[in-house]
Amino acid sequence: MQALELVVSDIRAETPLVRSLTLRAADGGTLPAFTAGAHLQVSIPGLTDRRCYSLVSFDRAPESFVAPDAYRLGVRLEAESGGGSRYMHTLKPGDRLTARGPKNDFPLHPAEPDELPVVLLAGGIGITPIAAMAAALAAAKRPYALHYSGRSLDQLAFLAELDRLAGPALTLHADDQAAMRLDVGRLLDGLDRRQHLYVCGPKGMIDAVIEGAKARGWADQRVHFELFTAAAPQAGDRPFELELRQSGLLLQVPADKTMLEVMEAAGCDPMYDCKRGECGVCTATVLEGEPDHRDYFLSDAEKAGGKLIQICISRAKSARLVLDL
Ligand code: FES
Repeated sequence: MQALELVVSDIRAETPLVRSLTLRAADGGTLPAFTAGAHLQVSIPGLTDRRCYSLVSFDRAPESFVAPDAYRLGVRLEAESGGGSRYMHTLKPGDRLTARGPKNDFPLHPAEPDELPVVLLAGGIGITPIAAMAAALAAAKRPYALHYSGRSLDQLAFLAELDRLAGPALTLHADDQAAMRLDVGRLLDGLDRRQHLYVCGPKGMIDAVIEGAKARGWADQRVHFELFTAAAPQAGDRPFELELRQSGLLLQVPADKTMLEVMEAAGCDPMYDCKRGECGVCTATVLEGEPDHRDYFLSDAEKAGGKLIQICISRAKSARLVLDL
């Protein structure tokens, strides 16, 4: 991934909570190419981990991906912000940012012969990579349908640009209007299992699409998703003891911390990437104890086997877990 020195050239309030930032190269040059679904990893002062923001685009001209003169991000101010979105909402035109990227963990599949429309489904700020996918599909003259859901219509960002880009391919959904509420089951019932689904949004929406698609016989390879949230404690989470057998370490994992966080605080250097249970980089072998799987990486059979675990997000159902680390 390339290191990028960027300058904020424009900021727009898209909704009361979402702002978009246009970023240009600090040296005024062309920026590295990106593909739909890619993100930047932005350095935030005072935070160790960079924050990931998807590149949003509504431009159906292929050059806008190949030789972009600017990147655009959409950032929602999160009530539970760890500092990233708060910082991004303080930036002004002329401010500088350091970032790495673009990196794409959520790419579109290549065009297929006699392709059925690709189904794009966005919840809230999950519209950012999904809009770029709509632009890329439109640029390639590939068919698609775009569903965009939020709590209310006034919380949906980028509506005018989406309407210009997608026109009749765009369907809006709003939770506060019974007639417009997104019904994932009904949506899936109206599709063909040969269609590719791309979903980005809150965990509840992603889980509903994954489960609904699985129940209707969709192949895993046709259901693509990206979560925007890292591990979050769930009601009923309990502390547990973690033994790292190879390292000879005994650690306590509190209810509000992940194994990965506890290991890092203890001076370990575990491998990880996404911290959302998607990429598989942090897989560890379980020697004793019962995992509480919360990831999207392991197969159902691997989860049932209980021998592997994603340390970035999963926990233990047992009071003690022993890993081969
Ligand atoms: S870091 Fe990606 S699955 Fe854990």
